[in-house]
Formats: sequence, C-alpha cells, structure tokens
Amino acid sequence: MNRIAAGEVVERPASALKELLENALDAGARSLAIMLRGGGLDGIVVTDDGHGIARDEMPLALERHATSKLPDEAIERVRTLGFRGEALPSIASVSRFTLASRQQDSDGWRIRCDNGLAFAPEPCAMPFGTRVDVEGLFERVPARRKFLRSPRSEYAACLDIVRRLAMARADVGFVLEHDGRRVLSVPAGQDREGRVAQLIDRELADNHVIVALEREGVSLSGVASLPTFHRGSADHQYLLVNGRPVKDRLLVGAVRGAYADFIARDRHPVLALFLTAPLEDVDVNVHPAKTEVRFRDPAFMRGMIVSGLRRALDAAGMRVANRPDASSTELWQREGPVTDPQPAYSPSGGWGPSSPGGAYGGAPLLADRQARFSGFAPSARDEVMAREAVPAEREFPLGTARGQVARTYIVAEAEDGLVLVDQHAAHERLVLERMRKALADGSVARQALLLPEVVELDEPACDRIEGRIAELAELGLEIERFGPAAILVRAAPAMLGLADVPGLVRDLADDLAALGDATSLKARIDLIAATMACHGSVRAGRVLAVAEMNALLREMEVTPHSGQCNHGRPTWIKLAHGDIEKLFGRH
Ligand SMILES: Nc1ncnc2c1ncn2[C@@H]1O[C@H](COP(=O)(O)OP(=O)(O)O)[C@@H](O)[C@H]1O
Ligand SMILES: [Mg+2]
Repeated sequence: MNRIAAGEVVERPASALKELLENALDAGARSLAIMLRGGGLDGIVVTDDGHGIARDEMPLALERHATSKLPDEAIERVRTLGFRGEALPSIASVSRFTLASRQQDSDGWRIRCDNGLAFAPEPCAMPFGTRVDVEGLFERVPARRKFLRSPRSEYAACLDIVRRLAMARADVGFVLEHDGRRVLSVPAGQDREGRVAQLIDRELADNHVIVALEREGVSLSGVASLPTFHRGSADHQYLLVNGRPVKDRLLVGAVRGAYADFIARDRHPVLALFLTAPLEDVDVNVHPAKTEVRFRDPAFMRGMIVSGLRRALDAAGMRVANRPDASSTELWQREGPVTDPQPAYSPSGGWGPSSPGGAYGGAPLLADRQARFSGFAPSARDEVMAREAVPAEREFPLGTARGQVARTYIVAEAEDGLVLVDQHAAHERLVLERMRKALADGSVARQALLLPEVVELDEPACDRIEGRIAELAELGLEIERFGPAAILVRAAPAMLGLADVPGLVRDLADDLAALGDATSLKARIDLIAATMACHGSVRAGRVLAVAEMNALLREMEVTPHSGQCNHGRPTWIKLAHGDIEKLFGRH
C-alpha cells in the first residue's frame, strides 16, 4: 500500500471521518455513533447499524480499488457516496486500524491492520452492523503529521463534517462524542426543518421560510432564514447536491442575489438548500474528497437558487423592491410640533434608553395617527426644529436636518445642496471611531449587564472566543466560558448602549473563525471594532427626532473618516444645487 497516496483521500482526521461516515450511510445505516479523541488525532470510532461486511470481503475492503459498489455503472451515474475503493486502504495504511462487522444470520468478525500491515480476520462478539476504529492517524508518517493542526481545530473540522452529513440525512440518527462528552445528538426520522434548526441554530425554527421549486427536472428545497435573522459570515449556509454536502462559491453569490434587497451586504442569512438534479447534470468527481461539484449549467442552477429563495421570501410577504417605492416621495406629512425635544441621542454617550417622556415618546402617537391616514406608508415629520435656518457651509457641511425618509435616511439641507445620510451606516462609523479612540487611550469603558447573558454557540466557536478572553476584555467585553457550548457575557462596551449582546457574540465568533488562530485582535482591530459598532448602532428603521438627527450630523462633521461606513460604502451623499437644477432641466 502506498502511504503517500493516502494523502489524496485522507489528509486529516476530518477527511478520514467523512469517508467512514459515508461508508456507513452507503451500508444503509439508520443510526451512527461517532467517538473522537483528541480532535480525532488520537482516535476515531464509527459504529453503524448497516448491513455489514462478510468475513471473506474484509481483506478485500482493505485492498486498493476493491469496492463492492459501482456495479457496471458509468462513473458519472454513481449513486452511492463512495465508489473508488480507496478510503479504507488509505486510512489503514497510515493508522492502527480495526474493522469489525457482523451481518444478519452471521457471527461477528474483525480484521486489524497496523500501518498497512493487515492481519487475518478473527471472530469477535458484537451487535449487527460495523465498527471502524482508527488510532494514531499519521503517527508513522511524521511528514504529514506535522501539517495537522491542533486537536481543537481538527475537532472543529470533524464537527463540521458530522453536521453537514447530518443535515443531508434527516432520516438517520447521529450521536457525536468528543473526549467522552456528548456534543451532538439528533434522532433518526426527523423532519428536515427540525433537523436543520437543531444543527444550525434553534431559533431558526421560528424564523424561516420553506423553499420549494421544480424546474426542468431539477428540484430545490430547503430552509432559509427570514431576512431579519442573519449572521456576520456566510459560514452558516449549506448546500447539498443530490444528498452530498458540497462547498460551492455559486451558493454564496446566489444567496446574496436573492436577499440583496432585504439584507445589508455584510450580513448573511442562515440556510440549508437541497438541490436534486439528474446525475448527468452534476459532476461530483471533481475533488477526491468530493466536496466540490461542477454543474453542467451553472447559470441555470444559480437561477434556481435565486428564484427559489425569492419565491419563498415573497410568499412570506417580503416584496422585492427593485424600484424606489413611488409613495415614499408622495406621502410626506405634517404633524403638530413635538413638544419634548430632549434627544435620546447625545454625541458623547451614544444612544441612551428611551424614556416614555423622551423623544421616542412621540413615536406611538405618530404611528397611530399615520395608521388612520395611510397605513404604514413611509413618512417624515415636520418638526419645529426642522424649520431652522440653514447653517453656513464652512462650519456645518452636512447642514440641518429636515426629516427622515423610509426611517432609514436623514434628509438635510446644506447651504450648497441637499444631503442624504444613511443613519445606520453613519452611526456605525461614529461608534467605530469612538472605539478606536478609546482603545488608543486605553480606556474602553464597560457596562455590567444587569443579568449576565448566556449565549449558546457550538463548541469550536466557544473555544475560539475563550481563547481570546483577555483580548476581548481590553475591548470592553467581559465574558467567560459557560459549559461546553455557551458563553456568559457579564459586561459589554458602554459605548454600544443597549447592544444586541447575543448577536454580537455570535458575530465575533464568526470573525474569529475567519481570522484563524495566529492573528492578534489588535492587528485586526478594525474588523472586530466594526462588528461591535454594527451591533451598537442605530439600525435602519428607527424613527429619529430632528434633534437626534442634527446631533448625528454634527458628530459626523467632527469625526475623522465619517464619510464612509465600516464596509466602505458612503455614509452620506450630497446633491448640489446645480445637480438639482439639472434634474429639472433648469440649467
Ligand atoms: N460501514 C460499512 N458497512 C458495510 N460495508 C462497508 C463499510 N465500510 C466499508 N465497507 C465495505 O468496504 C468497501 C471499501 O470501502 P472504501 O474503501 O470506502 O471504498 P468505497 O466506499 O469507495 O467502496 C466498501 O465498498 C464496502 O463494501
Ligand atoms: Mg467509501
């Protein structure tokens, strides 16, 4: 057996595990038990209740290119997950390997293989099914072993494999233990929505739409989050093609296209999509580990995903707005002056809690009145302060606020033109700049939470956060590990105000996954601070009083880099008087 070639299929514990799980599924297993030690580096045990292997076939299973599958079929029509007959021999050539199996009406047998040296089968007592035991992977191949990562990251990769396969097969039960602790357990015979929610995020169960679309023999089904339920990275988007979990760039682009009108560019929905296509339309054989696919007609598949998602969102009442809604310009309304101009926003302290007597006190009243006239049409208010004179250009280039459009944009009048400000982007930028300054001064104030918040995350994500506790504390986030799969948050940076703490911690975990182990947070402070700022920012959709709008404009004027949001988009635009005249053909 050739040990170098083993690297083709088996490069790390997770790839060995994937092969073992696929074999078990090919054998018709209904339940799988996986036990890992030291991230799979020390040991991997997979037990299944499938049809097993006959004693005489055991030595063959350890020989190269001896597969029991692929009966006379062309390779592109293969339906089983494995078909090359390479996995077991490869794994057995670089580990201490034991394959034990018992078929119906037969006794159990076991064959051992020590780094490529196979022994004769021997009887063993066991229940029906198969059990594969892999110990000391790559122990005798130091050249490969040194490329493996820490048990922690190898474990994270194994968990990802189990999660993807469990997603593909809601009919099969999976139990995963790591170092003696149960970390995942899903029952056989689950429905798909339940399985996906259990594997990705339990809250998805109440925040999803169902995707179902058929076109020219291709069908797309699955579960996708509502646009209001999103994450900071695309890591929680799963694509399964003909039952195989695959990673494909096509998915990310198509999802972005489908959600473009509903979600900020830097936010990502959570979803699992299942594409079923005729086998000849899909080439799964691109990569030896079979995680990539090649579509015969990628544009068609992309179209399927975009339309499938759009229809589902549409059915859930999310209309796609391709053009600005004409009513948004027609329905400007007047109302009586707001009597209490106390701003909830103050440039130094951020967004304070809104008191009933504060500026937000006017909002329900406004809403009532609007509801009577025009339902939920976008509106702007005409307040006393909005009639102030225009300030001098040189001092106040962003002018004075005149109102708000679609609860998202501030309209201001400057001496030389009309200014539109994206309130969320602008505020996010301001928070980031405050955060940077506070860090430079070594004074990030933290605010203790009244009740510490428990945030559930998967174990690798918790590990990543835990590894950064000291660094995060410097940024004002005081956290500790809370059991294997949760983080306890005791304090958050004060400047974030009433931030969405669980959302913040989840996004930080995603950021840390993207950064890897080596980078220091200080070196990537912009990314981390930007994530924090995003959660402490006033979201689009919040009604602002004119005083708040003006406070925001004034702070923007004195803050460096405030012209761009943390993602590089402009935070404001100005239409000069000359440009307005051109629009009306007056020049
Ligand atoms: N869990 C299992 N249950 C039953 N048979 C198995 C199992 N694992 C492996 N086998 C047998 O061993 C053979 C070799 O497996 P493998 O090297 O993964 O090749 P492939 O899956 O490509 O056929 C399979 O074809 C199958 O007959
Ligand atoms: Mg196989």
